[in-house]
Amino acid sequence: MAVLVTGGAGYIGSHTCVELLNAGYDVVVADNLSNSSEVSLQRVEQITGKPVAFYRADVRDASKLDEIFERHDIRQVIHFAGFKAVGESVAKPLMYYRNNLDSTIGLCEAMLRHKVGELVFSSSATVYSPGNTMPLSETSSTGNCTHPYGWTKFMCEEIIMDVVRAHKGFSAALLRYFNPVGAHPSGLIGEDPSGIPNNLMPFISQTAVGRRKELSVFGDDYDTPDGTGVRDYLHVVDLAKGHVSAIRYLDDHDGVHIFNLGTGRGTSVLEMVRTFEKVNHVPVPYRITDRRPGDLATVYADPSKSNRELHWKTELDLEDMCCDSWNWQSSNPNGYES
Ligand code: NAD
Ligand code: WQD
Repeated sequence: MAVLVTGGAGYIGSHTCVELLNAGYDVVVADNLSNSSEVSLQRVEQITGKPVAFYRADVRDASKLDEIFERHDIRQVIHFAGFKAVGESVAKPLMYYRNNLDSTIGLCEAMLRHKVGELVFSSSATVYSPGNTMPLSETSSTGNCTHPYGWTKFMCEEIIMDVVRAHKGFSAALLRYFNPVGAHPSGLIGEDPSGIPNNLMPFISQTAVGRRKELSVFGDDYDTPDGTGVRDYLHVVDLAKGHVSAIRYLDDHDGVHIFNLGTGRGTSVLEMVRTFEKVNHVPVPYRITDRRPGDLATVYADPSKSNRELHWKTELDLEDMCCDSWNWQSSNPNGYES
């Protein structure tokens, strides 16, 4: 029995492949390497000592998906493949709608053709509407997304829910991730964004390793304890384990199920900077700049449904996230290229 992991060469996908292999699953990856390197999968095999069946393929290529489903006894699918940069989605909305929606639709069509009926989908806290009170639960309001990327995740959730409603025997888990950071403790795989990092932790680690001059802290006048933005950061290894829990959950739960994957705790930008410096004994020069348009002051999860129903909760703390991020970045200053 194999699990198909689309986008499995990427940041979260590669970490999830490690946990799936460690849990005894066979893993098949379809990834077009548009934002990743095949080296990540070689490192996954190095970490686990187990093989990954890799297909360099666009998930929108129906014939390629048919080939993969015909060659492997795939029972479940985890769908990571997609574009995820908020700013890029504002500049290139059609590229995001084309890729994120078409890949999800094409994957669901292929799953139906091949009678594979269990799908875990990479959703995001970004589907929650601005204006919700914190913490966010799965019943908090969604929609009114503030950028095309968020809309693609919202629309993919709706598409998958309609497929589940129309096709008995098709079930899905929609996993709404908060802020995944960190890297596998081996330092062999980690976050390797192309270009200038959009997200906080890779910017911190690239600044610490000397690739960036200084971190811009986007505003210190928010209504938060130290004035900087507060988010729910979770270790990517904890997040990856949440996918194994979701795969197991779908073994005996029909229908569609939504889960927040977060810690339930908020951390400010400056708290993250100070923790990173403290545990790694490395300076992170920064400058306070203007707010980033669209940013909220505080976002964090109520993860109690995942804790209860997936029997999943985060085990790694902020120091682990900072230590493992630095271990990856300092061992791979230029990411997989290095
Ligand atoms: P990533 O860019 O590292 O991984 C995505 C992978 O998908 C890449 O390897 C890319 O090459 C591949 N891909 C993209 N389009 C494809 C296509 N059409 N066909 C085949 N492969 C394709 O991103 P990530 O951080 O690992 O995120 C994985 C998923 O989780 C994404 O869907 C993202 O939207 C979602 N997510 C990420 C975060 C985060 O903060 N990283 C938070 C919430 C949700
Ligand atoms: C975190 C905090 C920034 C960078 C985004 C997407 C979301 C999801 C996760 C895909 C904020 C501050 C950041 C920097 C900073 N991705 N910051 N300087 O915005 O919570 O969520 O990534 O699904 O969809 O919206 O994460 O890491 O960009 O920002 O001060 O150089 O760090 O203002 O308070 P965010 P982030």
